[in-house]
Amino acid sequence: MAQIEWDHVSKWFGPVAAVHNISLVARDHEFLVLLGPSGCGKTTTLRMAAGLEDPTSGRLLLGERDVTHVEPRDRDLAMVFQNYALYPHMTVYDNLAFGLKLRKTSPQAVRRAVEDAAARLGLESLLARRPRELSGGQRQRVALGRAMVRQPQAFLMDEPLSNLDATLRAETRVQLKALHAQLATTIVYVTHDQVEAMTLATRIVVMNGGVIQQVGTPDAIYDRPVNQFVAHFIGTPGMNMLPVLWGRVDGALAAIVGSQRLPLPPGLPWMRAAESAVSHAATVGVRPEHLRVAAAPETGTPSLKARIRLVEPMGHETLVHLDLDPDLTLVARTPDRWPHSNIPVWVSFDPRHLHVFDPVSQVAYEAV
Ligand SMILES: Nc1ncnc2c1ncn2[C@@H]1O[C@H](COP(=O)(O)OP(=O)(O)O)[C@@H](O)[C@H]1O
Ligand SMILES: [Mg+2]
Repeated sequence: MAQIEWDHVSKWFGPVAAVHNISLVARDHEFLVLLGPSGCGKTTTLRMAAGLEDPTSGRLLLGERDVTHVEPRDRDLAMVFQNYALYPHMTVYDNLAFGLKLRKTSPQAVRRAVEDAAARLGLESLLARRPRELSGGQRQRVALGRAMVRQPQAFLMDEPLSNLDATLRAETRVQLKALHAQLATTIVYVTHDQVEAMTLATRIVVMNGGVIQQVGTPDAIYDRPVNQFVAHFIGTPGMNMLPVLWGRVDGALAAIVGSQRLPLPPGLPWMRAAESAVSHAATVGVRPEHLRVAAAPETGTPSLKARIRLVEPMGHETLVHLDLDPDLTLVARTPDRWPHSNIPVWVSFDPRHLHVFDPVSQVAYEAV
């Protein structure tokens, strides 16, 4: 069993709560990704699992075993860092073999483990080289290999791809995902990159300010964010957020967006919670990819009048920046090319794609 559990774990550095009362389980064989902005406590959470940092309160469990006070080397977890820290004077082979030799593994077993890791990571032809003769991506693969040869119960990875350039990062990401499928082992992976989180994770843990915001599959985090922070953090560009007032006019629901009235169909998932709220002010979120831009209003769907302020062509799609009112703006991601700015247009969307948040707590009404 390679389950890792944080049980009501907090970590204070002097007056700073880096991690605040986290309860979380990385399940056996899971690729669990801790995602959040810089400084939100991801590294500290990971280092406490590794035993490199003592929790101020709470417990760490490996399977059923309480390891809160167990030394890092007795936890049987392998850590892979952003800075791969290979031994510069050793060959790739010796870098891979070093940990096993220290543990007095037999030479045959060392060779087998090194060759197996090298084959899985495509390092066979590089075994005689030294780290300075490798590219950044190759070095990071050696660092992964060094963790693999130990056959740990689980891997703890802290932004392992962030020193690689964009192309290599994308390639290594694919290799890592394939490797996880092959090894069928638990990985806890820290990143601030939502694309890495979405593509790699079986479940994502979104953190902010040392607090877990939401835990869920990539689809659940994308489709049903529980609050505005999660909603805005996932997706590029982030979700559009508009202040609205809503209410019933002659029994039909409508939102007032700036100077426009937007009729809404009945039966939307957030309505019941929104109707029992004290205020009829809300924040409405809609993702740029869920907006359609057209020269005329669509029939049968709610549409808003807008004006194109700025266009960012991306080749496969276009980011269209729109003004609804002088101080109300939206971004749309559309497959169509809109070469000009300052054109009057209509923006429409499927109302089921709206997310509605309490304007004070910023919690999604769907989640209440
Ligand atoms: N050794 C330390 N001493 C003091 N403060 C620290 C230490 N390590 C981390 N912190 C603080 O704890 C918070 C969380 O840090 P960290 O876990 O590194 O975040 P992340 O990995 O998400 O960027 C930050 O405010 C950081 O400055
Ligand atoms: Mg960090």
